[in-house]
Amino acid sequence: MRKPIIAGNWKMYKTISEAIEFANEIKHDCDTENVEVVICAPFTIIKDLKNALEGTNVKIGAQNFHYEDEGAFTGEISAKMLREVGAEYVIVGHSERRQYFNETDETVNLKVKKALSESLTPIICVGESLEQRDSGITEKIVTDQIKAAFSTVSPEEAIKTVIAYEPIWAIGTGKTATSAQANEVCLEIREELLKIYGEETSEKIRIQYGGSVKPGNIKEIMSQSDIDGALVGGASLVAEDYLKLIKF
Ligand code: PGA
Repeated sequence: MRKPIIAGNWKMYKTISEAIEFANEIKHDCDTENVEVVICAPFTIIKDLKNALEGTNVKIGAQNFHYEDEGAFTGEISAKMLREVGAEYVIVGHSERRQYFNETDETVNLKVKKALSESLTPIICVGESLEQRDSGITEKIVTDQIKAAFSTVSPEEAIKTVIAYEPIWAIGTGKTATSAQANEVCLEIREELLKIYGEETSEKIRIQYGGSVKPGNIKEIMSQSDIDGALVGGASLVAEDYLKLIKF
């Protein structure tokens, strides 16, 4: 059985004081049974958020990092630096980073390998644009992204990763993929993993859906056979909604 994983992606939202207020609102009510719970926060609030949620089962992640250990890379942050402030997860290859910050399949692969070598769990995002969906190439786009992300990643490492299928047209738009549409692509992803790693490994890798997930649709999404969690943007910023999401 794959353990469900619900992760918030806070993007570029919340100051330290806002994050602490959020933590105070959820901390007495966020225990979940058998659900892994994560918040991927802006760099500046990781440490304070972690401290504020001490003693709960909420784990903290980041949203990006550089694949080199150190160097003259102005403005960048390494995996070690993230570990040092308490991050245990990191989002890799989010479509907003692919779109606005030049993230490529190659850098995604380098980041996946570096994250794993530093004991950070990468949440690897894949997904098609509306134009790609309309031209019938969703499966090719998504499986190519998976092949590239997992290039030279061993099966032992692959099972430690989490994949997030996020159709770009559903992110922040209020347009959720239907649960059947989402499950169909998650199944295609698992078939690709099966080709790369075989059955035992592919059955262990968790695949989230992301894109306008809210308290009102999470139950339906989580009831699908090949969806093992959700990566949630907007709705994860509101304490009351976050609690509903993690207790789906
Ligand atoms: P959304 O964002 O839930 O606001 O659509 C999801 C994401 O970008 O991970």
